[in-house]
Amino acid sequence: MKEYRGSFPENFYWGTAISSYQTEGDNTHSDWWEYERAGRIGNGVHSGKAANHYECYEEDFDLIQSLHNNSFRFSLEWSRIEPQSGQFDMTAIEYYRSYILSLRKRGIEPFVTLWHYTLPVWLAERGGWLHKDAHRYFVRYVKFVMENLIADTDVRYLITMNEPLVYVLCSYINKKYPPQQASIVSAVRVVRKLIKAHRMSYRAIGKIKKGMRVGIAKNNTYFDTLSKKRIDRFIVFIAGYAWNRYFLNRIRRHSDFVGINYYFHNRISFRWRKLFNPRTIFNCNENEDTSDTGWEIYPAGIYYVLMEARRQQKPIFILENGVADAKDRIRSLFIMEHLKYVWKAMRDGADVRGYFYWSLIDNFDWADGFDPRFGLFEVDYDDYSRHPRVSARVYADICRYGKIV
Ligand code: BGC
Repeated sequence: MKEYRGSFPENFYWGTAISSYQTEGDNTHSDWWEYERAGRIGNGVHSGKAANHYECYEEDFDLIQSLHNNSFRFSLEWSRIEPQSGQFDMTAIEYYRSYILSLRKRGIEPFVTLWHYTLPVWLAERGGWLHKDAHRYFVRYVKFVMENLIADTDVRYLITMNEPLVYVLCSYINKKYPPQQASIVSAVRVVRKLIKAHRMSYRAIGKIKKGMRVGIAKNNTYFDTLSKKRIDRFIVFIAGYAWNRYFLNRIRRHSDFVGINYYFHNRISFRWRKLFNPRTIFNCNENEDTSDTGWEIYPAGIYYVLMEARRQQKPIFILENGVADAKDRIRSLFIMEHLKYVWKAMRDGADVRGYFYWSLIDNFDWADGFDPRFGLFEVDYDDYSRHPRVSARVYADICRYGKIV
């Protein structure tokens, strides 16, 4: 991107993101843990101690400081806080209190995700999000966390849920995540439940504490056409509506900001013969440059995703953007190029307030196990030591000076 010049605003939030299950380790009351034990995830992967973040979060916070970050996104593990239905574990609450206070002491703004994919076993056994009261269970958990943790720890930013549609796709369509169903009917029901759960939580949070800023982290894709054919443009419109805009529109009156996770560009190319295998209509990407997971690297896409999110007329946070790159071959350039497009979107009117790189450290990447390496810091899984990649230095300089140096 050649046009880039200038800096990001002084009060811009620079951060990294992680989630509890992917980093903490030993989350034994979660549905994922059960499925892993039964050998039902990926090629029999097991999260085990994950990145051992539970024990060494202070060291990880030192890493955050070395990046000159002023913010950090992490999640609370519902199954740790409420291991049995209606029975909350105060030691878990106290743990997260020390965690948040330690961030605050270091001058780091916490961005707290309340739910990032994993469910307590007791809820999974009752049918998970398909249970008629699932949204009420979620709100009960949210209220407890608000009253016993958030209200007196000075947290201002809350993300109720991470990537609801990715969750539904992987849990109720392609069977990658628990409960590994393939049912459009269930998928639609869960989407509606999640919308309800978010809206009810939003209202509950507002009643307990004024001034909280609440939103979700939405995985949005840049849909594009291979040709200029009308039908392709029509499919782009429908896909963009269903995947990018629908959920956000439905919670618009119950959100203070739009959280965007950007990873994907998706080119669409329709041919009548593809109707026999509709999947081939999607992802007709050139794939000139790809990550270790085979995902196309397409920095310009973040520009379009942000310009689309701008229509929500709310502040925007990029809550995830990152690349699996074990050898750190392209990560520095990846970050710089994406940020140039973020800057361009801001110049063109998108009210972007922060950028969180995924991820601070290597971690358990769900059904793909430990293979994808998203971290700015490499984790040695033999002794859980952390080692900075060169890109960590590059990102640290960007955050320090507020511009691409
Ligand atoms: C998820 C993360 C995941 C990342 C990379 C995102 O969609 O929120 O949990 O690790 O993708 O796979």
